[in-house]
Amino acid sequence: MKYLFALLLSCSLLLSAPALADGKEPILIKFSHVVAEDTPKGRGALLFQRLVAERLGGAVKVEVYPNSTLFGDADEMAALQRGEVQMLAPSVSKFEAYTKQLQVFDLPFLFDDLAAVKRFQRRDKSRELLRSMAANNIYGLAFWNNGMKQLSATRELRAPGDAKGLAFRIQSSSVLEAQFAALGAEAKRIPFGESLKALQDGIVQGTENAWSNMTASGFDRAQPFITETNHGSLNYMLISSSSFWQSIPYATRSELEAIVEEVTAQVNRDAEELNRKGREQLLGAGNARLVTLGKEERAAWRAAMQPLWQQYEAEIGADVLRAAQTVNRR
Ligand code: LMR
Repeated sequence: MKYLFALLLSCSLLLSAPALADGKEPILIKFSHVVAEDTPKGRGALLFQRLVAERLGGAVKVEVYPNSTLFGDADEMAALQRGEVQMLAPSVSKFEAYTKQLQVFDLPFLFDDLAAVKRFQRRDKSRELLRSMAANNIYGLAFWNNGMKQLSATRELRAPGDAKGLAFRIQSSSVLEAQFAALGAEAKRIPFGESLKALQDGIVQGTENAWSNMTASGFDRAQPFITETNHGSLNYMLISSSSFWQSIPYATRSELEAIVEEVTAQVNRDAEELNRKGREQLLGAGNARLVTLGKEERAAWRAAMQPLWQQYEAEIGADVLRAAQTVNRR
């Protein structure tokens, strides 16, 4: 019995162990994500796949699964920890079960624009956050960006009070829940892959997202009003599991990390362009009306949401919050 158990155990280890780079089987990296291919993250995953094939073909093979086709928001992190997928790029809003520090990215109106977010991501405090989930076997490789978030709804949202009584689809984040509570609205945590259906079925009447995601996922089919608030940003952490990443032979891992760096720069360049185009395309389709805010109108949204900074300071850490507050150019 003991021998049978040992045999079964060694067989299962063999099956789950990554192949060595100098063996016949290439190391397989399954990269799963929840958005469309023509988004900053979708394009980044495909570029990573292409560069790996060009530079490490034979040693490493990358398979990309977009649109929650392999795993979705509800199960992708557990799948990474079980070794069923090797790379993900979840929004930083989705890590609160592992660290509260990343909630800094969710604080509304903390960053003036994407350039400020990028400046923060280059700071040491931010780089430390890539290692903040080591105890959970989560290994941060890079920050990828999408764009600034806008609010959409079934009715015109011009003043903060207009959101009162509506239910908004949110990512799995307490800060985002509190953000809508501050408006007298309800928030429902719904995986990204189920968002459009939830909007179409009227389970929620509004949501927030970057232009690129709204367009690529067709949110305008259910959201006739989009208020350009730029109240927050949508950012990702490209992750692997520490155990998988450290198991890759050093030379191969170094090459992969160089590719990650190159792809990160491209994703972050693409983000602004794809959001600008997404905005044009969505508004051009004519299903949704744009609501732009005057200076004082936007200040009212900011005043309604800003109390969250203090509310979450202790959980996030005063040092992280302070580092983030120094990146705006005012
Ligand atoms: C969302 O859930 O709205 C986003 O995190 C989706 C994504 O990955 O861009």
